[in-house]
Amino acid sequence: MAKSETPLLDELEKGPWPSFVKDIKQAAEKKPMARDLLGQLELSYKEKIGHWKHGGIVGVKGYGGGVIGRYSDRPDLFPGVEHFHTLRVNHPTGWFYTTKALRALCDVWDKHGSGLTNMHGSTGDIILLGTKTENLQPCFDDLSDAGFDLGGSGSALRTPSACVGPGRCEWACIDSLDICYNLTMEFQDQIHRPMFPYKFKIKVSACANDCVAAIARADFSIIGTWMGKIQIDAQEVKAYAASGLNIREEVTDLCPTKCMNWDEGKKELKIEDGDCTRCMHCINLMPKALRQGKEKGASILVGGKAPILQGALLSTLIVPFMKLEPPYKELKELIRKIQDWWDENGKSRERLGELINRVGMRTFLKAVGLKPIPQMVKSPRTNPYIFFWPEEIKKEVK
Ligand code: HEM
Ligand code: HEM
Ligand code: SF4
Ligand code: SF4
Repeated sequence: MAKSETPLLDELEKGPWPSFVKDIKQAAEKKPMARDLLGQLELSYKEKIGHWKHGGIVGVKGYGGGVIGRYSDRPDLFPGVEHFHTLRVNHPTGWFYTTKALRALCDVWDKHGSGLTNMHGSTGDIILLGTKTENLQPCFDDLSDAGFDLGGSGSALRTPSACVGPGRCEWACIDSLDICYNLTMEFQDQIHRPMFPYKFKIKVSACANDCVAAIARADFSIIGTWMGKIQIDAQEVKAYAASGLNIREEVTDLCPTKCMNWDEGKKELKIEDGDCTRCMHCINLMPKALRQGKEKGASILVGGKAPILQGALLSTLIVPFMKLEPPYKELKELIRKIQDWWDENGKSRERLGELINRVGMRTFLKAVGLKPIPQMVKSPRTNPYIFFWPEEIKKEVK
């Protein structure tokens, strides 16, 4: 038997999980590009250095983003990956496809690229991995003909993404799919033409279970919620207790605000709704007995990000409740105001959350015209000082 050319990569196939090596090998049977990708990766593992270089702006006509350029620094050894650019393709909201659409997508990529895909990237986009500079435009043209468009990259609005929401989930408080699609259409220009200090992400989860992790990953997070009382079906509560659910240990004791009370004797559940933060915990555990309140809308949070330049940030709540109905005028106005302020004041490569931390929440609130509220306090300070704006002090004295 011939000796393997990739002994180090082969090791990665041995574990219990499916390996990307296996996928690339499969593609390598058809594509020299994928074969050279394996070769270069093996060399990197052997020498313990990367052989990719960044640099060189590549793209398609009329677009400032959507293509991520990569080049090999050993094209002499691996001509197939001399260029290995990635296309970010805007996914259908909620990641719903027809098989016909998937086939069209794969045909385009077999024709113009390595055949390797990542469904889906951490941005939500369809990631088409590896093609040559001269193939970019024809590939994009074919994608357009098939009804697809590029997503965001660089200092642009990134492809907005949303949980499946009302498409498949009973917890949806808002139409995350429609909101995401509507915002994607509204802000097309910002997706295709990078115009900001850095990236800006919008993510929509239709309830606080937050399946797209909007709170941790988006500069602007839209999270479905409700107003008013959690609806309790007393009979179903009793049925859960009878079926062996330990309501005190598993539900009420774990309520983060301790606003629930379970009367073991009377088998009665009470909720102090004024103190509830609408975290979804109790509803997740007793879906037949508990339902969200009837008035639905969303909480708006800003400033989340993963650690790249500075550390990770979770979003801060700025609007506890906003009704969200098409055409989402209030929402869009708020997004524009926030982006304008960030665009004017942000340093190069400074995310919204970092800018707010640098200049202070009160400066941000003043700029976008929101009133401070207790929910915005991230952690209580040890000193009691509050900094008023000069004009507010004059107002009090008069
Ligand atoms: C030390 C080296 C590298 C660092 C620090 C790095 C860092 C990053 C970061 C921070 C992201 C953003 C992830 C996100 O937004 O979720 C990213 C995305 C990406 N990088 Fe790299 N990268 C490196 C090497 C590479 C190489 C060698 C390639 C290709 C040959 C590459 C291709 C990509 C692609 C295609 C994406 C987008 C993936 C997606 O959207 O899912 N990167 N990289
Ligand atoms: C007559 C003497 C002093 C006066 C009039 C004075 C006045 C002040 C004032 C007006 C502030 C601003 C409060 C705010 O708006 O947050 C302040 C803050 C502060 N002062 Fe003084 N100070 C004096 C002496 C000192 C001394 C001797 C120290 C240290 C040994 C000190 C340490 C601090 C610190 C650490 C703060 C920041 C507190 C915070 O915001 O957490 N001060 N002081
Ligand atoms: S975030 Fe909520 S509404 Fe959206 S899919 Fe997850 S559980 Fe369902
Ligand atoms: S939703 Fe969360 S905070 Fe509200 S009552 Fe249930 S567990 Fe408590």
